[in-house]
Amino acid sequence: MYIDLLTDSGTSAMSDRQWAGMMLGDEAYAGSRNYYNLEAAVHEHYGYKHLIPTHQGRGAEHLLSQLCIKPGDSVPGNMYFTTTRHHQEAAGGAFVDVIIDEAHDPASEHPFKGNVDLDKMRRLIEEVGTVRFPYLSLETNVNMAGGQPSSMENIRDVCALCHEHGIPVYLDATRAIENAWFIKQREPGFADRSIKSILLEICSHTDGCTMSAKKDSLVNIGGFLAVNDDGLAERARNLVVVYEGLHTYGGLAGRDMEAMAIGIAESVQEDHIRARIGQVEYLGEQLLEAGVPIVRPIGGHGIFVDAARFLPHIPRAHFPAQSLAAALYVDSGVRSMERGGVSAGRDPKTGENFFPSLELIRLTIPRRVYTQAHMDVVAESVIELYQHPDRVNGLEMIYESEHLRFFQARFRSVAPVTVGDVSGAPTAVKQTQS
Ligand code: F0G
Repeated sequence: MYIDLLTDSGTSAMSDRQWAGMMLGDEAYAGSRNYYNLEAAVHEHYGYKHLIPTHQGRGAEHLLSQLCIKPGDSVPGNMYFTTTRHHQEAAGGAFVDVIIDEAHDPASEHPFKGNVDLDKMRRLIEEVGTVRFPYLSLETNVNMAGGQPSSMENIRDVCALCHEHGIPVYLDATRAIENAWFIKQREPGFADRSIKSILLEICSHTDGCTMSAKKDSLVNIGGFLAVNDDGLAERARNLVVVYEGLHTYGGLAGRDMEAMAIGIAESVQEDHIRARIGQVEYLGEQLLEAGVPIVRPIGGHGIFVDAARFLPHIPRAHFPAQSLAAALYVDSGVRSMERGGVSAGRDPKTGENFFPSLELIRLTIPRRVYTQAHMDVVAESVIELYQHPDRVNGLEMIYESEHLRFFQARFRSVAPVTVGDVSGAPTAVKQTQS
């Protein structure tokens, strides 16, 4: 692995201050002082009343889904995310997509492709009634759409609509700070506001959040559920003990909570977020210049290459995005991630493959890890393949795990590959064949 762009999750570099915080771990089973530092940091930056730490984001999603969703419920959201939808379905709910149509179009230049379509939401409320809605799941800087933000106006309006009907709104705050950056850049009235104050305002419209601190908060492990409702917080504290650990550590070591508390404070620093998103833009601009089809506008945590347009000769059944990820790795040792048909999985009712409109690979940039020179290498390899799409073969899946298959699936090339077909590593290709 030369450059690892699989994910920005838990792969960022911690600062000297965070490492110093690790040395201050208070590993008391109950009431670690690091928990209280984390609670203060979450309160100051996200504003919610109650904090329930979890080992990572999906731990919080599990608690929220189990506590709020009943079998037969509909859970609207602005595009699915893999683990989020999985926990909603495991609790008996059905995810309903209410994101604006532009989010499904990689070429649309809409500045806020994460927005909820208020008409879709209104129609859904009319059709289903409010009884079967446990909450709206509102993701910031929508991952599967390409790291695309929501506007403050849309967040405010959709929260008002939901609250009018007694529906709570829970934020997926995993990349809320990257969303805050785009609000500052693109939405009138926010240019002079601090990232910290924009983040607080986003959260203030909602009733709580699930959080994977492995992204915005710059830690290798950690997450939390934060809510304002006293009763829900109490029920979550009861349940966290069953699945994660005591409510003052939630599956984390004291030192991890300290690193998270410090990471949260660092994550809203303007220079940090400017450099972080600037690096993503640096890579994206090079690909755009070479005509490579990528999701536009350039998103927050990575570049999403439109594999369907990149490899028109590979049918969806042979997973163009997975095929491109494999070819890129063979070409240059750059690992990317499939975000298309493999990630979307199967319909739990019919067992049929989902084929989402977006068939992408994600070049996900960890925070504070790589230099622009690394980005040059990535761009060179992607452009090389774009100019020689015939070097990329489709794949068939030869192993599929039952849950969240994209994490563990295995593939085989559908076409015979001869030595020298793929530049750089012919022996590796031969081994894949056997
Ligand atoms: N929500 C979003 C928007 C995410 O991107 C992730 C994880 C989660 C929730 C789950 O959090 O991993 O801490 O349990 N995304 C990673 C990724 C896996 O690569 O995009 P987790």
